[in-house]
Amino acid sequence: MVPNLPSTPVRPATVSDLDALVALELHAFRGDRMSRAQYRRHLASPRATVLVADTPGEGLLGSALVFFRTGSSRARLYSIATAAAARGRGIGASLLAAAEDAARARGCRALRLEVRMDNIAAMALYERAGYRRIGSYAGYYEDGEGAWRYEKDLAGS
Ligand SMILES: CC(C)(COP(=O)(O)OP(=O)(O)OC[C@H]1O[C@@H](n2cnc3c(N)ncnc32)[C@H](O)[C@@H]1OP(=O)(O)O)[C@@H](O)C(=O)NCCC(=O)NCCS
Repeated sequence: MVPNLPSTPVRPATVSDLDALVALELHAFRGDRMSRAQYRRHLASPRATVLVADTPGEGLLGSALVFFRTGSSRARLYSIATAAAARGRGIGASLLAAAEDAARARGCRALRLEVRMDNIAAMALYERAGYRRIGSYAGYYEDGEGAWRYEKDLAGS
């Protein structure tokens, strides 16, 4: 078993991370992928935060994307991914914690997300971090798979 890293360094992404972000997106997701143009737009948007796990000597091993809406106290975790070869080392958990910190820093009370009903690893990550199921959407993804909706109360954590 690979030992968990105590904490993986996570930082806000910049335009210089675009190539690595797109490469990670291509290998981490089979469908519903974010394009380079979309990432470029989100990097420049005041309503989005792109985070990357940047490990010394190993480069960019994970990313997360959080959206904010004006007037809403709920942020949305739109995407989170760890490079396949680096999974199980705590990188996803570090990215999730950083996404929550980013939402708190923007005054948000809660973080919401959707996850494929067949994505066991992601559901385990969220539930371990204190997210609770608040509903579902049938046929949410490109291939027809449904989504569970999860939320975490950030004030209580
Ligand atoms: C989901 C994902 C981000 C998890 O990243 P990760 O870096 O491997 O996660 P971590 O190592 O931080 O694991 C944290 C917790 O998640 C759970 N988990 C992670 N991988 C798991 C797996 N394969 N099976 C079961 N639980 C798993 C565990 O509870 C784990 O805690 P533990 O190791 O202390 O038991 C990663 O599998 C991934 O990138 N998947 C493809 C993209 C994706 O599906 N993203 C989510 C939807 S947007």
